[in-house]
Amino acid sequence: MEHALLFFAFPVFVLSMFCMIVYVVYDFYAITYDSNDSLSLDCCSILLPHIIQWTKQFGKNFSFALGKTQFLYIGDGELVREMSLCKSFELGKPSYLHKERGPLLGKGILTTSKEAWVHQRKTIAPIFYVDKVKNMLSIVLESGNALTKSWEKLVEAEGGIADIRVDDYVKTFTSSIFSNVMFGRYEAAEKVLFSKCRDLMEVSGSPTVVDGHPFSRFYPTKIHRQQWTLVKEIYWIIQDIEMKFDNDNCKELCTVAMEVPGTTAIWGLMLLALHPDWQARARAEVLEICGDEILDAEKLGKMKVLKMIIQEILRLYSGAGFTAREALADVQIGKKVCVPKGVNIWIWPAALHRETLSSGVQML
Ligand code: HEM
Repeated sequence: MEHALLFFAFPVFVLSMFCMIVYVVYDFYAITYDSNDSLSLDCCSILLPHIIQWTKQFGKNFSFALGKTQFLYIGDGELVREMSLCKSFELGKPSYLHKERGPLLGKGILTTSKEAWVHQRKTIAPIFYVDKVKNMLSIVLESGNALTKSWEKLVEAEGGIADIRVDDYVKTFTSSIFSNVMFGRYEAAEKVLFSKCRDLMEVSGSPTVVDGHPFSRFYPTKIHRQQWTLVKEIYWIIQDIEMKFDNDNCKELCTVAMEVPGTTAIWGLMLLALHPDWQARARAEVLEICGDEILDAEKLGKMKVLKMIIQEILRLYSGAGFTAREALADVQIGKKVCVPKGVNIWIWPAALHRETLSSGVQML
């Protein structure tokens, strides 16, 4: 009898799992961005249309699973505020980050939790104290001058108007600033380091938890072999440079410091290109405050239009993706929500910012 039951139950189980997978895959691909839309600045609907669709369907907060990893998406500003007040060490960094993104992130500040994170934070924070950052303005000016001069040359060579793909220039600009801050110079070894970090980011650009194959990160695929080689190369470059931090933190910081402000700056250039009136206002302000003098921290502090523009860029295109946490034990957030151990929380600042307008000017 038991055998007969199993005989029927097993195919039914397999069939229902198959139907469920088809439904989820169909749902995943059915909701896509409408490419007929003209140049839309709603990057959230382009990047992850599913999250936007599910928000409409299920409300601001909802849960879903990718494979066996459970997620709670929080899109309610009030709950996000309550989460920011929750100082529990049990709200740690998701384990999938260093499992799936190990080659890129390793075990530095971005992926560690609890005591290990506190230790890393104490080591890194002093470099970014406000007084120190203020003194770095000359480095930023130097790198900015080099960037604009290279563009001026291109424009000159093209006879007054040039079509410039800015991505690499801007990322070289951000990496040269950070390299100067970290290493005190921008020499060959560091240039190679940043370009290898960029290569590693590019080859690591595949899906993570949605990959779906157990232990797939260990398969010697072409991409994985490229990753392993780059990781080794980066490791030895960092070992050769005199470093204030351990290898993983150095790699993480180089990647973040080049990529996040770089992407933000690129979006900023695009927004300014779309809004020449704001360009003109910013230019007039800079000329009024600086005149022929060199920019310093005090003058920068007086630039109100520039500050509004930067806040608007950060509101719409902060460059940082999701804020992700994993409940390392059952965690109470505010009075109403208890997140069970093992569940990952995703907060998407770009989507939140588009819903609730922060102060400042709205260009869109
Ligand atoms: C436009 C510029 C930047 C933006 C918008 C930005 C945004 C953010 C955000 C939202 C987080 C929190 C992520 C989370 O809680 O999961 C974060 C964390 C972090 N950022 Fe940035 N960031 C920027 C530039 C930088 C730069 C230049 C560096 C390094 C030089 C940096 C290093 C870090 C580090 C190390 C963390 C992790 C801190 C921790 O876990 O304690 N960021 N950033």
